[in-house]
Amino acid sequence: MQAVEPRTRQVQYSDLREWLSIVEGFGELAVVEGADWNLEIGGLSELNYRRKPYPALLFDRVKDYAPGFRLLTGATGTSRRLGTCLRLSTDMTDLELVQALRGKPLAWETNARRYPPREVPNGPVNENVLEGAAVDLSRFPVPFWHEHDGGRYLGTGCSVITCDPDTGVTNVGAYRGMLIDDRSMTVQIVPGKHGYVHYQKWWAKEGRAPVVVALGHDPLLFCLSGVEVPTGVSEIEYYGAIVGEPLDVLKSDLTPLPVPARAEIVLEGWLYPDKKAHEGPFGEWTGYYSGGEGTAPLLEVQRLRYRDNPVLLGSPPSKPPHDYSYMRTAMKSAMIYDALVKAGVSDVRGVWADECGGGRMLIVVSITQRFCGHSRQAGALAAQCREAAYMNRFVVVVDDDIDPTNLEEVVWAMCTRCDPAEDIDVLRKAWGSRADPLLDEGAPPYNSRAIIDACRPFERIKHFPRVAQASPELLRQIESKWSGLFAQRPAPAPGVGGAERAARLAGQATNGSLADDATHGASAPAPTDMAAGEEEEA
Ligand SMILES: Cc1cc2nc3c(=O)[nH]c(=O)nc-3n(C[C@H](O)[C@H](O)[C@H](O)COP(=O)(O)O)c2cc1C
Repeated sequence: MQAVEPRTRQVQYSDLREWLSIVEGFGELAVVEGADWNLEIGGLSELNYRRKPYPALLFDRVKDYAPGFRLLTGATGTSRRLGTCLRLSTDMTDLELVQALRGKPLAWETNARRYPPREVPNGPVNENVLEGAAVDLSRFPVPFWHEHDGGRYLGTGCSVITCDPDTGVTNVGAYRGMLIDDRSMTVQIVPGKHGYVHYQKWWAKEGRAPVVVALGHDPLLFCLSGVEVPTGVSEIEYYGAIVGEPLDVLKSDLTPLPVPARAEIVLEGWLYPDKKAHEGPFGEWTGYYSGGEGTAPLLEVQRLRYRDNPVLLGSPPSKPPHDYSYMRTAMKSAMIYDALVKAGVSDVRGVWADECGGGRMLIVVSITQRFCGHSRQAGALAAQCREAAYMNRFVVVVDDDIDPTNLEEVVWAMCTRCDPAEDIDVLRKAWGSRADPLLDEGAPPYNSRAIIDACRPFERIKHFPRVAQASPELLRQIESKWSGLFAQRPAPAPGVGGAERAARLAGQATNGSLADDATHGASAPAPTDMAAGEEEEA
């Protein structure tokens, strides 16, 4: 990887290729040649996500495939790359990104209507056009991602475009798609998602539903496809509001749907109620092969368009952190924050949908409490607003002295401010998922969720025991007097390496991967963030 360039403000680009060169410029792109589509690309990507920060991987000369037919993974895994996608800046830290995103989703939603897609006569996606029997999906290096998948998944980092036949509103969603043969793939959409509602409506009205699938594109379009943009707002217009320019699209004579003109690969066709195919299982975002297998609508591709030397965008889920967990956490945290503000919850200080819950199952909301019941209001709305309703499991509400992004602080608040008998409410029959590993086979996909009020009881807030830690002023004074001490030995980074480090030192292993780590760690020097004496204690 190349050296990091100086900080820049604001960034603009118009397609995946321009984005790739920006990312390469700041040193976060690694090109991998000669990898095998069969498990090796998936495995390399998984290893990559565990390093933090990690580069995006651009696979070329994939085994069995023509050079130039490329695949990208890890596109949105750091603040610099995600900040670039969002046209914010190329060099944001995690914290800067979270702060910059605050208030943005509401603004994008409000402005979206000003950016309908712009029809252009032609675009690079037309460099290769194959119709009917000539359609050939076998040209693209579609990985067999995880060992126990039921097939090769072409649709992971995809943007599936549908529209509401009543209102004409276009939707773009990321829905998994398994390659069935050279001309067809499945499109598996969970009931309740916009794409599902759309094809059901079309089937009821016309007996078939149009669909366009972009398989490589500006990663911003992918981000928006993978998060819950409010109902009635088109992700294409939302995209325009973020970029400040409409998305360039081609009009098609096959379906009424727009075709992104600068996309890498685009499929067009129709879904029919009686054309389905078996698909799954697939390693899912929950960290399990939990979506199971079954039938899903089959897309028989009528037209394939692709650019010369196309880049397929891959985004395989798995046990977090995975390909898009960072993006989902950053985006959902901002979107849920804005949804709470829009719903009238006052004094929301922060929202965090941590990666460990796949950006869905654990949501932390911090508030400045103003009245009795405030914390429960924030919790209940966070648990059920559209942006968070699907498959959340725990909402934790904390006071504003707790950093919601710091799970050590959050759990400390739960341990000391939440009386389980009083402060945990359970909602039943909420919007669950077939991907829920706890769901019994064949059971309807409801779930329950806990709202954990980890705020100090409002009526005792003034008299609640004082937190036993030095005041910031005192710490600042002492730190400046003793600055040399901390320059030599940085304080432990919260949450980094704790359990793993302890296991290494004790020579214990709880599972295979730790066993390996323990072996490697045996002769390794002590980590620099270790406090004095810790080695002996362990
Ligand atoms: C890589 C990726 C794969 C996804 N796979 C599926 C899927 O197979 N089915 C599904 O319903 N949602 C899937 N999702 C989640 C949806 O994309 C997400 O809920 C999105 O908000 C759906 O758009 P909609 O709210 O407009 O329907 C996936 C998301 C990502 C990022």
